[in-house]
Amino acid sequence: MDYFEIEGKNQLFGDVQISGAKNAVLPLMAASILNNDQLTISNTPNLSDSKTMANLLREMGSEVKFIDDKIHINSQSINMPYAPYKLVKTMRASFYVLGPLLSKFGEAKVSLPGGCAWGPRPVDFHIEGMKKLGAKIDLEDGYIIAKSNRLVGNKIVLPKISVGATGNILMASVLAKGDTEIHNAAAEPEIQQLCHFLNSMGAKISDIGTNTIKIQGVDSLNNIDSVSVIPDRIEAGTFLIAVAATGGEVKLNNVNPMHSETVISHLKKANINLTVHDDSIVVSSDGKDINACNMETNEYPGFPTDLQAQWMLLMSLASEDSNIKENIYFDRFNHVLELNRLGCNVRVEKESAFIKGKRNLVSADVMSTDIRASASLIIAALCAEGRSTISRIYHIDRGYDKIEEKLSKIGAKIVRKK
Ligand code: UD1
Repeated sequence: MDYFEIEGKNQLFGDVQISGAKNAVLPLMAASILNNDQLTISNTPNLSDSKTMANLLREMGSEVKFIDDKIHINSQSINMPYAPYKLVKTMRASFYVLGPLLSKFGEAKVSLPGGCAWGPRPVDFHIEGMKKLGAKIDLEDGYIIAKSNRLVGNKIVLPKISVGATGNILMASVLAKGDTEIHNAAAEPEIQQLCHFLNSMGAKISDIGTNTIKIQGVDSLNNIDSVSVIPDRIEAGTFLIAVAATGGEVKLNNVNPMHSETVISHLKKANINLTVHDDSIVVSSDGKDINACNMETNEYPGFPTDLQAQWMLLMSLASEDSNIKENIYFDRFNHVLELNRLGCNVRVEKESAFIKGKRNLVSADVMSTDIRASASLIIAALCAEGRSTISRIYHIDRGYDKIEEKLSKIGAKIVRKK
């Protein structure tokens, strides 16, 4: 199994090209089910998660090809509204296909995603949403069997803001009869992109980017041939934090700074120098004099939970102690034990983490537990004296496009080994 070997204590200098967003490309690929022709998605990241989604679409009859940073999807021959367990279990976002399959075919058989590296991560909001739109849902052998005549618009109040449930309900309701309102809808840029994409196919979605999205159902959608994925704000945030922690000066290209305002303001409070341009950010740091800054994760535009682990590492280097409150996933702290093995001193109590500052990081052999946790371990190893190894890096390959190549290019000593 591949692992990373990292030699720490090198500052980072140069340019990094940020890839398209994982959390945007996956729902766009699912939305291709609603298209009846050739769609080219550009600025796509090279990730194992997009390959999983491609395999899922192929099982249903679509043709999917990857060429450079483009994914070409021909949905003309899609005829099998079925998402098997073997694919859904490896990636929860596979569940995104439920909404578009139901609205296109009036039926769908989709495996329940099952467990996750942290917490239960249920899909009850998705299912309740489909029921509110008139679908009949049964559970058989771990599969959701959903059936409906034409879906009917309704007012849906999500118990809590959910990115996935918002996306799924959107893709189901665009072809419903009548109007739908999603309350407690996600305002994340990736969901905004999905809304704009559906509108370009003829859907009528308004109040995009707010927590109450309105959908006027239409009788049919037209085909669309291209869309370009927005930049990955989580990858951008990871590189900003990496340079803040190791020290150096790096320009991030292909970013949308407006999507990272909360992260930028936290980094500034932590005494990190940032120069923000229209589509690039220059970050510089001496890797010292980092101010402690308490943080709580929240739905967009709050601080993203997907950067919580990386922030924890940065705060371990700060001049004072600080804390983090995790409001999205109460037990997303699997990375703490591994970070502590690299010299951090973090204590978790319920949904809060208490972080000792001024840590001298030390090399260690550690193990990834999920996509973002792996990123925090890489940054920690880059800051530690000596040689560290990080195993189970298949987690990082799910969500980061060639991270070791991008880091090596700016001076990190990181090698992928078998
Ligand atoms: C998406 C992102 C993930 C990010 C997360 C939160 C994708 C592919 N993944 O995941 O990277 O960490 O948003 O920003 O976009 N919940 C329920 N029942 C449900 C659905 C959600 O209880 O049916 C809860 C979850 O357990 C969690 C909260 O709602 O506490 C938010 O989860 P959600 O926004 O749905 O996360 P995902 O869409 O799975």
